[in-house]
Formats: sequence, C-alpha cells, structure tokens
Amino acid sequence: MFMKSISLKLRIAITLAISILAAAAADKKSIDVSKLPPSSSAKDVTYEKDIKPIFQKTCFKCHGAEKQKGKLRLDSLAATLKGGEDGKVVEPGESAKSVLVHNVSRLGDEDDWMPPVDKGDPLSKDQIGLIRAWIDQGAK
Ligand code: HEC
Repeated sequence: MFMKSISLKLRIAITLAISILAAAAADKKSIDVSKLPPSSSAKDVTYEKDIKPIFQKTCFKCHGAEKQKGKLRLDSLAATLKGGEDGKVVEPGESAKSVLVHNVSRLGDEDDWMPPVDKGDPLSKDQIGLIRAWIDQGAK
C-alpha cells in the first residue's frame, strides 16, 4: 500500500515534469533585439506618408478590407494601433518591444514571420528601420 502510493506520487511528478518541459519547448523563441535592423534617422515619420505605402504593398492583402488574418488590420493608423487577436502589435515609443517589428524582422518563430514564408518578399532593412523610427517617434 505504502509503495503503491509512492509510485502514484512519482507518476504524478513525472507527468508534471513532462508537461512543464513540453510547455517550455512550445514557448516562443525570445527575440535578440540587438539583431533588429537599426531605427532610421528620418524625421517626422508618419503612418499616412511613410508607413501606409509599405503596408499597402506587402500586408494589406491579408490585413486589410478583404482579409483580417490574426484579426489584424493595418490599413488605417487606428486599426494598426488597436492590434490583433493577441492585443497590441505596436508599442508607441518602443519599437524594439513591438510585436510587429519582431515579426517583420524574422528573428523569432518562423510561424510569426511577416509576410509569412513564401507569401511575399520580406521587408528590407531600410523599410524596417523606417517602421522603427515611426514607432519610436510615437506612432503618429
Ligand atoms: C499571406 C497573408 C499575410 C500577409 C501578406 C501578411 N500577414 Fe501578417 N498574419 C498573417 C496570418 C495568417 C497571421 C496570424 C498568424 C497566427 O495567428 O498565428 C498574421 C499575423 C500577424 C501579426 C500578429 C497579430 C496578432 O495579434 O497576433 C502581425 C503583427 C502581422 N501579421 C503583421 C504583418 C505585417 C506587418 C505584414 C506586412 C509586412 C503582414 N503581416 C503580411 C498573414 C499575413
């Protein structure tokens, strides 16, 4: 009886340990922000003037009027700031912490790369730098 209860506890402990390990393995790869393309030195960067044209070319087909993948629209400043199914994707003033910057920079999980693999050309370092400058200047 004693032995049986020990082995039951042991089995519970092992099951717990395995599920914790599995959860850790499934956890998102953390981003090495030092590898992000640097913020551009451009001044007065705005959504309408600088960012919308980039999103229009590369992102609107999945995050616009027709489709809202991840419940995210990028076709207006308000919608972009609102974010998607997991909440905000832009943190005004903090481009290195912004999910959108992580995703377009293709540093984390391949599942999160934007545009998705084989679904469009990746953004250039200059485009990412401009998006970073826009966010760092307050995402206006
Ligand atoms: C071919 C379709 C497609 C294109 C093009 C595309 N995306 Fe996405 N995007 C998706 C899908 C699908 C998801 C949802 C992924 C998921 O839920 O795992 C997503 C999710 C996202 C998210 C996360 C939303 C959230 O709240 O979790 C961001 C940020 C994002 N996309 C930004 C962009 C940007 C910026 C571009 C253009 C540079 C872009 N995407 C282009 C399909 C696309």
